[in-house]
Amino acid sequence: MAGVVVVGSMWGDEGKGKVTDYLAQKADAVVRYAGGNNAGHTIVYDGKKFALKLIPSGIFSGHEVIMGNGMVVNPKAFLEEVRYLNDAGIDTSRIKVSDRCHVILPYHLEIDAIQEKRKGDKNIGTTKKGIGPTYVDKYSRIGIRMGEFIDEELFLERLKETFPMKVMEYPELEEKYSVESIFEEYKEYAKAIKPLVCDTGMLLDEYLQQDRKVLFEGAQGAMLDIDYGTYPFVTSSHPGANGVCEGAGIGPLYIKEAIGIIKAYTTRVGSGPFPTELFDEVGDLIRERGHEYGTVTQRARRTGWFDAVVVNQSRRMSSLTGISLMLLDVLSGFETIKICKAYRLDGKEIYGLPSTVKDIERVEPVYEEMPGWQEDITHVQSFEELPVHCQNYIRRIEELIHCPVVMFSVGPDRNQTVVLKDIQF
Ligand code: GDP
Ligand code: IMO
Ligand code: MG
Repeated sequence: MAGVVVVGSMWGDEGKGKVTDYLAQKADAVVRYAGGNNAGHTIVYDGKKFALKLIPSGIFSGHEVIMGNGMVVNPKAFLEEVRYLNDAGIDTSRIKVSDRCHVILPYHLEIDAIQEKRKGDKNIGTTKKGIGPTYVDKYSRIGIRMGEFIDEELFLERLKETFPMKVMEYPELEEKYSVESIFEEYKEYAKAIKPLVCDTGMLLDEYLQQDRKVLFEGAQGAMLDIDYGTYPFVTSSHPGANGVCEGAGIGPLYIKEAIGIIKAYTTRVGSGPFPTELFDEVGDLIRERGHEYGTVTQRARRTGWFDAVVVNQSRRMSSLTGISLMLLDVLSGFETIKICKAYRLDGKEIYGLPSTVKDIERVEPVYEEMPGWQEDITHVQSFEELPVHCQNYIRRIEELIHCPVVMFSVGPDRNQTVVLKDIQF
């Protein structure tokens, strides 16, 4: 048992990249198991800021990095990211890509955009990277897997089967793409990726059998989970620890710790319900102080108070063993801070997220108010150095979410991280 999972426990962008990079220093391998280049993980390495969309954040620690079968991989975007890292002097030769992950082709991006347009004002606000349409093909059993993609003959054969089916559904595709045009461009990408492709599930089993330390890097956040998030305003995978087994090809007993990554407040990008959302100057202030603008799409993130109902839902789904509380520094300077401890629906207090958007939109957050702190905390290196009101805020969050805070973060840099309990692989 040597697997640790880093899990986004809100609506994404909680700081998973920073925590993964931090914990990767102790790991032998770092694995992504869900999503694709809809993710944007920020890492500050050597004083420079990097944004990774596909390649696991462990790439900076010199270990093996694995892209698991649960991912959907855009070959063009992958090779661009490899180049981006190489140009910065980062070695990418230790990347392994699963032979079973599904390949995002240009028509998936087009379908993503068409679907969003067709939905009108009910659109999901996707990243338009073709994520949903690629998972649709996977589950319709017409998708093209990496193992097929890197076999030139098989790729062409599969493309000839699948593309016409897509054209039947979306005739507009034919104006831009043909089997030949896609094949000619993408077969070159396939050649470049081929040496990295293998059965990553088998490789991981070997590592874990040998008690090597494996860190699983979640993408997105639990509230974007296809089953337990704010459906249909979700992504098309299982971002939580619940997604590790299917997305990395290992069994549940290998997971020793699941660390939930949360912000000291809440953000969401894209459409969908957000019970604690702020529409006033407090929300604007959090957005500006936290630089809350999307890594992938540059969209302004919606902001709101901390929501214990959301984090409890994530804790249940992922059996969280600890919490890493991020962006605590952003909350310095508020007179008071609100925490949502429950929702009120039809006069009753509830502690779980309703299953329908209609009900989530009707809930009223039940807040408690705590005194804020004024001090700059960006240089703090221990819990004791934090202002007492900040300490109380952390302790109250722990009580409400039934999980200990094992790390907190007071700035984007690696050294602005305080570990309260060592995370053991
Ligand atoms: P991810 O998708 O979960 O990896 O998160 P993102 O990278 O999309 O967004 C988190 C942002 O917060 C990034 O710009 C990080 O550099 C930044 N960040 C992480 N931790 C902290 C922190 O403790 N304080 C501040 N001020 N910024 C942080
Ligand atoms: P990281 O890993 C925040 C959101 C999109 C949209 C919904 C569906 O950086 O936390 P999709 O393109 O996946 O079909 O979009 O999910 N979304 C994210 N929001 N952070 C992410 O990733 C996200 N990945 C997808 O904004 O609302
Ligand atoms: Mg992000």
